[in-house]
Amino acid sequence: MQKIIILDFGSQTTQLIGRRVRELDTFCEILPYNKFPVGDESVIGVILSGSPYSVHDPEAFMVDLSQFVGRVPVLGICYGAQFISHTLGGRVEKADTREYGRAHLKTVDTSNPLFKHFKQDSQVWMSHGDTITAIPDGFQVIGSTADVTNAAFWSPLPMEGQGKAPIFAVQFHPEVFHTLQGKQLLKNFVVDICGSHQEWSAASFVETTIADLKTQLGNDRVILGLSGGVDSSVAAVLLNRAIGKNLTCIFVDHGMLRKNEFQQVMEDYKVLGLNVIGVDASSKFFADLAGVTDPEQKRKIIGRDFVEIFNAEAKKIIQNPLLSGGEAGAAGPVRWLAQGTIYPDRIESLNITGKVIKSHHNVGGLPKEMNLQLCEPLKWLFKDEVRRVGRQLGMPEHLITRHPFPGPGLAVRILGDITPEKVRILQEADDIYIRELREWGLYDQIWQAGAILLSSVRSVGVMGDERTYEHPVALRAVTSTDAMTADWAHLPYDFMAKVSNEIINKVRGVNRVCYDISSKPPATIEWE
Ligand code: XMP
Repeated sequence: MQKIIILDFGSQTTQLIGRRVRELDTFCEILPYNKFPVGDESVIGVILSGSPYSVHDPEAFMVDLSQFVGRVPVLGICYGAQFISHTLGGRVEKADTREYGRAHLKTVDTSNPLFKHFKQDSQVWMSHGDTITAIPDGFQVIGSTADVTNAAFWSPLPMEGQGKAPIFAVQFHPEVFHTLQGKQLLKNFVVDICGSHQEWSAASFVETTIADLKTQLGNDRVILGLSGGVDSSVAAVLLNRAIGKNLTCIFVDHGMLRKNEFQQVMEDYKVLGLNVIGVDASSKFFADLAGVTDPEQKRKIIGRDFVEIFNAEAKKIIQNPLLSGGEAGAAGPVRWLAQGTIYPDRIESLNITGKVIKSHHNVGGLPKEMNLQLCEPLKWLFKDEVRRVGRQLGMPEHLITRHPFPGPGLAVRILGDITPEKVRILQEADDIYIRELREWGLYDQIWQAGAILLSSVRSVGVMGDERTYEHPVALRAVTSTDAMTADWAHLPYDFMAKVSNEIINKVRGVNRVCYDISSKPPATIEWE
């Protein structure tokens, strides 16, 4: 399949470039700036991202342009443009003032293929400290703003002795929303200039992935951990289509899921034809968490118990094929552990210098002696693409649009130690909140919502003629695109009044409801 390579020089908007290219139904990979896949014939174009560095910084990231310039079309964005200029004989200097924000393309060469369908004066978004004061020989300026003469330039024949593919450079950011014709520019580059056939779609993904999984897995058996969330569910359905009964899923109930969630999700999985072993391990989790208040300690205990239980189940399946629903003797050995890891999990885990900045939430790690290989069929997809694939596979909408939910569940939404009674109180309050969000048509406008029980706080209230001395519940709802940053959702007052009333009236143990109006950063989405 054709692909665009995006070389990442560390810009915050690199992922966004990837998303934009995918929106053009074109497959792309974001790779560290120094990891260009030399010799990969499926590469049809290269985009160089922005960077926090100046080309003059001693630690600035460098790439050997001759690996691809002239062979396939190249587009440099911001630092990418400066790097092209700096390396091919132009000049980059510190700007007197940082250029940040809105600008307009005062002149733009609409006869150039990069600017096809562009309007004069089109708004672009700038964010740079350096400016390109001279472009390399053989290049021509094709766009300027009032302050930046060399805002866009190109060369049809960029490097001597190389092929004939053109190179383009833009000082502004076409990937951001505020560059109003940014999508058009990227379409011009990806489709017209690089020649994408725009064949990357949910349907083609499903078809090729199922075929690939069949080849990769043969008659091997596969174990997959389900969480009830969209990623692992879609991965399971995809694998089920590819290898049927050879897939066995394990769904562990740690007792801190949402109200009735374990039963409902198990039902959903059955309807989907998945072979799922549900394990109710709540008593073990509650026993091990008794008296623990520290958030990280809670996470560690839950993570450890989870791996222990998952491994014990996996061992049973490995030893007994009948458990996996297969016929004795017919199925091959268990060789694989499948996971619903998606693309952002991996990009967040690996920064361009290869250092781990955030460990995977969903990678448990099986003991070495089990000797299982990882199978991650969604590892190239963004969240919305996973949802599209789920729809393509005919999965029910409520599974596909389900909000993200943390692995440790309500344990990190109960401030203080955890008891089954506190979990029950929180489940009731959370259930009312989520149900009302759905009824008011707000659920799908929100990235994630949930209730938090402030179990170590008590406040005074009055109900009927009686004084109460009970716990507050905080409600949280955020909008986000990737959970890296988030804003609190501006829910209607009438809605909040209804939910607050219902929770206080119906949930014994709660006499006060607050709404969390903190954004991330500096707060996080979860309270613990
Ligand atoms: P924070 O609280 O860091 O959360 O803003 C970002 C996203 O990650 C989820 N989250 C977790 N998911 N295990 C998980 O599987 C965890 O320990 C965990 N902590 C946070 C959170 O719900 C949000 O979607």
